[in-house]
Amino acid sequence: MKYYLAPMMGYSDCYLRCLADNIYEENITTFSEMIVDKAIIHNEIKTLEKHFLKTNRSAIQIAGSDPKEIKESIQKLNQIEYIKHLNFNLGCPSSRVQENKLGLALTKEPSLVEKCLESVVEYKNEITVKCRLGLGLEEDIDYIFSYLSLFSNLGIKTIFIHCRNGVLNLDTKKNRTIPTINYELFLRCKDEFPDLNLIPNGEINTKETFEFFVKHGVTNFMIGRQFAKDIFFPEKIGLYEIKNKKMAILKSINDFRSHKFLNINLIKKSIYTLLNDIPNSKNIRKEITIMEDINSLQNYFESNELWN
Ligand SMILES: Cc1cc2nc3c(=O)[nH]c(=O)nc-3n(C[C@H](O)[C@H](O)[C@H](O)COP(=O)(O)O)c2cc1C
Repeated sequence: MKYYLAPMMGYSDCYLRCLADNIYEENITTFSEMIVDKAIIHNEIKTLEKHFLKTNRSAIQIAGSDPKEIKESIQKLNQIEYIKHLNFNLGCPSSRVQENKLGLALTKEPSLVEKCLESVVEYKNEITVKCRLGLGLEEDIDYIFSYLSLFSNLGIKTIFIHCRNGVLNLDTKKNRTIPTINYELFLRCKDEFPDLNLIPNGEINTKETFEFFVKHGVTNFMIGRQFAKDIFFPEKIGLYEIKNKKMAILKSINDFRSHKFLNINLIKKSIYTLLNDIPNSKNIRKEITIMEDINSLQNYFESNELWN
């Protein structure tokens, strides 16, 4: 089984990703928050130093809608040695993103998507796409089938599918609840495109859901909110055994030190995802909340045995 930590603005920052990478090692690939191509063009050094640690193993997720600009950002990313995987966002419905015709909004124009992807495929390392199952509330098999054909024709073989439609002019939160989850349509896509590596995303957070997919031959999963809530959840539902939690956390704290824009509050936010359901977690959280620097965090995890 392989996990993918979904790109999530405000959550999948370099600290949470680093923790996940050190905990699950080669069994996870993590994705940065969405980064607009313009930010890379205008100041790639600062943008990348903000979003990535020197020890990075994550993919970068980018969004864009101007093929020339995408190309320019890709040329810059081709020079960056510590990023080896690029994911293109075709699913984000946020209004700010919509205004700029990015993400889901871009998919209203298939010919423009094609031109954008022609620029994306100039990236020299691994390329993947993340998309929705459809646009608007109605099931629309043609939408997803034609996009999968397009990706395939351009040589993009790994696609993360958020298994619900996206709706424009609906806020992002409602876009994660109102369009219904449609795993059946995902499975039809899998049958129709056996040569593509299709990876499901959306509400995959219970043992039953994992078992449903495994029964259908799916063993790779992209997970967002459940990891952001409880990074150890696969162990709690009996899917995975995490060998040395303390070592993974101490290694992460050490990796954090390389971050040019070290932010202790974001570090603590990522650390809280480790504390779900452990005995005394309220008090531990209180102790961590008042810490003001990374050395205090390191001492705390070195001298406490929070996990067996
Ligand atoms: C707070 C938040 C921010 C998100 N930001 C992004 C993003 O930057 N790029 C993206 O492709 N998806 C984004 N998503 C969508 C997630 O990647 C994922 O598709 C969605 O949460 C469904 O998966 P889940 O049910 O496992 O959380 C975001 C989701 C949340 C909750």
